[in-house]
Amino acid sequence: MDDLIQSFKATMARYPAGVVVVTTTDEEGRAYGFTATSFSSLSLKPPSIIVCLANTAYCYNAFVNSRHFAVHFIDAEDSALAMGFASKGIDKFSGVKVDLSAEGVPLLKDSVAVLECGAGGHFVSGDHAILIGNVLRTKVSDDRDVLVHYRRQFGKVSMPAAI
Ligand SMILES: Cc1cc2nc3c(=O)[nH]c(=O)nc-3n(C[C@H](O)[C@H](O)[C@H](O)COP(=O)(O)O)c2cc1C
Repeated sequence: MDDLIQSFKATMARYPAGVVVVTTTDEEGRAYGFTATSFSSLSLKPPSIIVCLANTAYCYNAFVNSRHFAVHFIDAEDSALAMGFASKGIDKFSGVKVDLSAEGVPLLKDSVAVLECGAGGHFVSGDHAILIGNVLRTKVSDDRDVLVHYRRQFGKVSMPAAI
């Protein structure tokens, strides 16, 4: 089983993935966030997305019980921000420029795009939960590249603007 897990991780490392930071607050207004690559569009009508969260995460209960959360696409030059939100036991929001959404979710001001979501429930599978987000509002900045993760490194994909 350990061999399978190692080869699974090595295989997934060959799949380039966009890096997002997901944020929410709990009922006391405390802010939580984590870095993720397990993000995908789910449905168009209505617009919805998924992101998977490990049950070992400190922020797990906050997200599973959250009513709203936000998904941020991170600037290609901002891998430090992604590493901050992937680090346990630190104040992840220290020094990070934030606005609050209408529902009180922290929105990272320097992100390339934001999907503000209403929580659409979650499914537990293995050691992760799939969080469903029903998209309420979006914001995107066209002229910046997003951070990607590929072969265990951060990088970027630069393409001419086609759409
Ligand atoms: C590039 C990258 C991608 C990650 N993707 C995920 C992911 O999709 N799901 C997840 O649960 N953790 C992922 N992590 C790890 C979490 O960001 C990290 O464990 C985080 O600190 C968990 O939140 P916590 O500090 O509240 O425990 C990723 C980390 C990195 C660096």
